[in-house]
Order: sequence, then structure tokens, then C-alpha cells
Amino acid sequence: MKILGIESSCDETAASVVSDGCEILSNIIVSQIKDHALYGGVVPEIASRKHIETIVPVIDAALKEAGLTLDAIDGIAVTKGPGLVGSLLIGLSTAKAMAFSRNIPLVGVNHIEGHLMAIMLEKKVDFPYIGLIVSGGHTSLYLVKAVGVYEVLGRTIDDAAGEALDKVAKVMGLGYPGGVAIDKLSKKGDPRAIAFPRGLLDRDNLDFSFSGMKTAASQFIKKQPADVLPRIINDLAASFQEAVVDVLTKKSIKAAREHNVKSLVISGGVACNSRLREVMRQECVHMGGTAYFPSPLLCTDNAAMIAALGYHYLKRGDRAGLGMNAVARWEI
Ligand code: KG4
Ligand code: ZN
Repeated sequence: MKILGIESSCDETAASVVSDGCEILSNIIVSQIKDHALYGGVVPEIASRKHIETIVPVIDAALKEAGLTLDAIDGIAVTKGPGLVGSLLIGLSTAKAMAFSRNIPLVGVNHIEGHLMAIMLEKKVDFPYIGLIVSGGHTSLYLVKAVGVYEVLGRTIDDAAGEALDKVAKVMGLGYPGGVAIDKLSKKGDPRAIAFPRGLLDRDNLDFSFSGMKTAASQFIKKQPADVLPRIINDLAASFQEAVVDVLTKKSIKAAREHNVKSLVISGGVACNSRLREVMRQECVHMGGTAYFPSPLLCTDNAAMIAALGYHYLKRGDRAGLGMNAVARWEI
């Protein structure tokens, strides 16, 4: 079964063809990062307009790269939420138009659920596993029992981890998205140089809080004399990154221990972070388990994960009607 996936929830326009839920035949992603960089974050109106310009060429490119025409597509899976409503509607309307004009089965899938299942495209991970979704918009822990069967274990009560990294990077004068720049500078810095707070680490729950950590780091940076900042910038990046990684890792391991689960799957943009990958792998080995990370291109927003998940729903008979709409719900 060949499924065309379409993703347009934020600032990536993406289309992909996936065969039988696991073999990627094409994976086209057009990022709008440079269009939003000037503003230090995603501007919803610009995002929607860019999706309008890009969506049809991206779908054409995905079909071309897969060596297929629409006639060979058995189903269309499209992100229905959560995300920016104007952005989502571009993908949804395009998918609906294609599906109903060509009589192709259509299904809408949840973006976060796509991130949780992206690992299926590269590795077979047995259920149950702990899923940590960590990106610019989300930081949540799930117990994943089967495709479509999840339990929310904890989530951020304020900012997402990526949002905090981006904000601190902005105060440091690094570009957007700042998480990548922080990762790079950290390689030359001392993670123990500055002791930043660790949000909610002392609490006996699996929720996260990055807002206080972000504020503490921003205030620390603003207090530094202009000539000092360049000298400590690597240590600053490494220390803040370490605080974020520490919280994400400890809460994930706590979740695994509490539920007696040995596999952890970490996905979303921040899962590209090299220190998170290193520490999470070490701590999982220490626990007698394994940490699984999709490759970076499948961690950030992509349509292959949407097609892979859509395959399972289409196979069991799920069908979306013309009335399917964008949903703003932020969790599964
Ligand atoms: O999943 P994603 O592409 O978009 C959503 O937010 O849904 O994630 C983007 C986030 C940004 O906050 C970005 O700074 C962060 O992922 N990010 C990283 C790295 N690469 C991307 N954060 C830390 N280290 C990285 N290497
Ligand atoms: Zn995402």
C-alpha cells in the first residue's frame, strides 16, 4: 500500500510517499526557516502564505522522486493538528481536493502521534515504550502501548524545551532557531561552568517546566558586561543545554522505571541535540534499556511519519470525510 503523506502544521511544507508503513520512497521537506529568521520565530501569516506557494510543487516532487503518479497512490494521510490553524488548512484543503477528486481514501492524523511513531520508519521497537516528544512547541512523555494507544504521563506546564533553547539563544545573540547554535557552541564549553536551575526536577511527577530556567538564563546573560559575554558564551551555551538535557533525561528515565519499560523513543526537533542523544543513551544503558532516536531528518517535521502512521489507520478502515477540519488540540 503506497501512502502519500502531507504535512504543513508549522513552518515546513512536506510531502512523502511511504510503502507499507515503513519504506520511504520519497521525503520532500521545504523549510521556511529563512523566512522567519528575521523575526526570531515563526510568523503564522507568513507561514500560511509560504505553504500556499509551496504545497503543490512539494507534492509533485514527492510523487516524482517516488517514480509514481497519483494513480498509484492507495491513500492520502494529512496532518490535521495540532499546529497553526492557517498552516494546517493549506495541507488539509489540498489533501481533500486530491482525495475527493480522484476517489483516493483519505485519513487525518495527529502530528504528535506522527512524531511518536516516526521510529517505525527505521527500526522495529517493541511495545510498550516510553515516548518523549521534545520540540519547539511540545515537551511531553507518553506510554506508547500500540499504534494509536497512548497514555500521557507528563507534559510541560509552560514552555517547550525547544522554545526555551530558542529564547535563550536569542538573548545570547545567536540566530534562529537557536537550539542548533547552542548545540554547536556547547561542544567547546564546560557544562558545569554555570549552575542553572532544573525545573520541577525535585517534584514527584513527570511534568516539565522550562519557563523559570529560561528566565534565569536570560537574566544571567543580561547582567554580563558586554566585554565578558563573548568570553563565556561557550560555557553559557553548554551549561544551559546541560540543564535542559538533565531534566529531559531524568524525567524520561523516571517514567521508564515507574512503568517498568526498557525502551525509550525520543523524537521532535530537540531530539537532534547531540548532548541529549549522548546522555540519554548512557542513562538508558545504565538502566538496562535502550534509547532510540530517529535520524535527524525524521526527528524534525516531515511527512514520512504522517504517511507511515496514516497507513495503519487506512489499513484498519479509517476514512476522513469532506467535513474533516484542522484541530487545535495540542495533545493526543
Ligand atoms: O520538531 P521541530 O522541527 O518543530 C516543532 O517545533 O514542531 O522542532 C524545532 C525545535 C526548535 O526549537 C529548534 O531550536 C530545536 O527543535 N532544535 C534543536 C536542535 N535542532 C533543532 N535543539 C537543540 N539541539 C539541536 N541540535
Ligand atoms: Zn513537530
